[in-house]
Amino acid sequence: MPGNPADGFENEQMKVAAETWSGEWWKLGGGGTVWDTAVYDSVNDLVIFGTGNGTPWNQQYRDPETGDNLFLASIMAVKLETGEYVWHYQATPAETWDYDAASPMTIADITYEGQQHRVVMQPSKNGFLYMLDVASGELLRADPFTEVNWADGVDMTTGRPRTRPEARYEDASFNLLPGVQGAHGWHPNAYNPENGLLYIATQHAYSPMVEDPNYEPSDVGFNLGINFGASFTYYRDNPNAPRGFEGFVQAWDPVAGKQVWRSESNQGPTGSVLATAGGLIFQGSGSGQEFRAFDAQTGAKLWSMQAQTAVLAGPISYELDGQQYIAVNVGGNQQGGYYAPNYSRLLVFGLNGKVQLPPVKEYTPPPLDPPPATAAAEVVDAGRGRYSQFCAICHGEEGQTRGGGASPDLTRSAMLHSQEAFDTVVLQGALTERGMGSFAEALKPEDTQAIRAFIVARANELKNAPPQPAFGAPPPAQQQQQRSEPAQQQNDEVQQPHVEQ
Ligand code: HEC
Repeated sequence: MPGNPADGFENEQMKVAAETWSGEWWKLGGGGTVWDTAVYDSVNDLVIFGTGNGTPWNQQYRDPETGDNLFLASIMAVKLETGEYVWHYQATPAETWDYDAASPMTIADITYEGQQHRVVMQPSKNGFLYMLDVASGELLRADPFTEVNWADGVDMTTGRPRTRPEARYEDASFNLLPGVQGAHGWHPNAYNPENGLLYIATQHAYSPMVEDPNYEPSDVGFNLGINFGASFTYYRDNPNAPRGFEGFVQAWDPVAGKQVWRSESNQGPTGSVLATAGGLIFQGSGSGQEFRAFDAQTGAKLWSMQAQTAVLAGPISYELDGQQYIAVNVGGNQQGGYYAPNYSRLLVFGLNGKVQLPPVKEYTPPPLDPPPATAAAEVVDAGRGRYSQFCAICHGEEGQTRGGGASPDLTRSAMLHSQEAFDTVVLQGALTERGMGSFAEALKPEDTQAIRAFIVARANELKNAPPQPAFGAPPPAQQQQQRSEPAQQQNDEVQQPHVEQ
């Protein structure tokens, strides 16, 4: 990211980049975090990495003139020894959807249109699979590898996406696909050089993009310029809008730009992929809690086991004393909630393995037992606003963690019965070491009172009414169809919107 032009630029590229910005972007940073894999290409002696999206997310607030904002959401190549710029490809100019270009990349030698190329490939969060020549940065292919509704393809002469104006959610909200979860996250892909197929952990996920009319630049709190709690109200107001978040693994022919096979879906993100020379694909089914092996060529499922917990991490293969092993870290509580057993383990497989997993433990979630809701409506409303800005990202929309188990469901917290206990955590940081920091810098006692009043009101609503259709659950019409698909029906749970962790 270029800094304040008044301070001068570090190099020529930062000067060029600054011309694609307006406003005072350096005050809040502008974004562009490099948070995932870098790859090194020994043939060209280049380090290739991807950059993140902008801050705040909503570009209207970041750059009122809608510049390209280099080098956000770009694949970049620099010289190993000096870090000197060699080339870049910006996948998402004027980024406004959390479309980082940071996902894992694969380098391969391929023949394309009769010519040998050493390429770098990235299935991007934005739904396009980019194939670039490593030496020159030339864009060879840009194919949608899942459903995309923010752009009508990529113009191969300019390399720019044909963005649909309405997708920028400036005049009205937009039900984005791929949503902010992305068509692909951090999950490692795999490439088999023998059959030339790339195996992609893929996500098909909607998320409504709704502008935050109350946005004010600030470096505290969750400050994106979009209304993070809005998918709840969006789907309430648009009950037939498509929704859902499913994951699957697919085999992709990057030269032909087409799918060869795909697995069945699981709810939420799906697991990372390993391709072996023996022609197998190992992969976990996320919330499906299954670890399985597919035939690399046909996609036939050859083997599977129930892991008792989500399988998302990248499996590895290794040899020890002449024996081949497959190992995978498991543990991701997608269903039972924060306090449910997580079964975090390293599972190791060999051909003669005989170990059985111990039986699962019984678990009952804490009861929904709030005190009566007595606060005035305006206090509850103020609490909803505060909650949405500071708490929803971890504790879930509308006060309730559903599906994901990364933080407790506050509607079931015993602390709803005592403001003092609540403030010991929220203002005094009693649980800081467990990942729940103090909000004393951002919130005053009247704010936390309002937040607690809002959660109490929500908990009473949930206790007294049948549950609302969950974010991530399909609309009623699709639910009907899914009765015949037990795998999806059973996992009709919700993901939190932000799932890079
Ligand atoms: C970065 C993620 C994150 C954010 C943001 C966050 N929390 Fe938490 N919170 C946690 C985690 C993790 C725990 C569980 C800590 C533990 O293991 O005891 C927790 C626990 C709590 C608890 C204790 C629940 C119980 O019954 O033990 C309360 C109350 C709470 N949070 C309130 C809030 C409020 C109010 C906000 C917004 C002002 C907020 N949290 C924002 C992650 C978060």
